[in-house]
Amino acid sequence: MASGRAALCLGVCMAAWMIAADGIAPFKEESVRWVSVDFKTTLHWVSPSPQHTVSVYYSRDGGDWEEVRDCIQISEEECDLTNQLIPYKWNYTADIKVESEDGDSDYTTEDMPHAYSPGFNPYRDTFISAVEFTVEDKGAGNFIINITDPLTSIHEKGRQLTIRDILKKDLQYKISYNKAGSTGKRDLTWESSVAEVTGLDAGQGYCFRVAAFIPSRPKKTQYGSLSLQQCTKGDPNFVQELSVGALVGGILVLIVVLAIIAAVAVICCRRKNKGTRTLQQTQQSSTVV
Ligand SMILES: *[C@@H]1O[C@H](CO)[C@@H](O)[C@H](O)[C@H]1NC(C)=O
Repeated sequence: MASGRAALCLGVCMAAWMIAADGIAPFKEESVRWVSVDFKTTLHWVSPSPQHTVSVYYSRDGGDWEEVRDCIQISEEECDLTNQLIPYKWNYTADIKVESEDGDSDYTTEDMPHAYSPGFNPYRDTFISAVEFTVEDKGAGNFIINITDPLTSIHEKGRQLTIRDILKKDLQYKISYNKAGSTGKRDLTWESSVAEVTGLDAGQGYCFRVAAFIPSRPKKTQYGSLSLQQCTKGDPNFVQELSVGALVGGILVLIVVLAIIAAVAVICCRRKNKGTRTLQQTQQSSTVV
């Protein structure tokens, strides 16, 4: 009985909802996601009804809803909000509304499906891409790492901003390096985009990788993508440091070899002497008999 009533209720509810929403399935909020790299931010979703257009609105820190001019009555399933999400440090929410077919009827618009986006804060959430950098070997184990701050797609006074222009002092870089042919990695963080790595082994080749590091962010978004690896060749004519180790090693080997030769020689001589003595003894005894 109870299940019958539940089914009836479900049926009525479904019917009510179908009428209300023009027969369109609900808008799945979990299909709405932000994709943001280097402050270029687009909103993506899966429309519940591809034959309807949608319009996108956004709100800054829970304030009034404003329309995104380029995303009104669009049939795409994405909208670029890069230029709306300024100032960067605020929290933004978007609302994607399916438009009724006869766009002029406000009455039905209210009942059309819509979906809110998750909250988004460009300053905290935008992903930082892998950086490009150069390594200059200054000799004597010193290196200059020159990092190119990735460009954003935001222009200000005719200039394209870099992530450094926006993140300023909050932007650091993590530099990982290892001696060529060795797996032992070391890390250091650097606050500016030109880093000096000093005190490494002179004459050796090193490999470097760099990632943006924003310690003021929550753990999950602190690191940007890891760059490709850049290696230096080292100096093949550099022998000073190598020779100390090589010399000590060489001398040790020589001492060991000499010791072995001496030991073998001593043992052989003893055996030989003993052998001759025994022979003489036998000869003597045989003469006696
Ligand atoms: C770093 O590279 C840029 C160009 O990529 C150059 O203008 C600048 O002088 C370099 N800085 C250093 C310290 O090498």
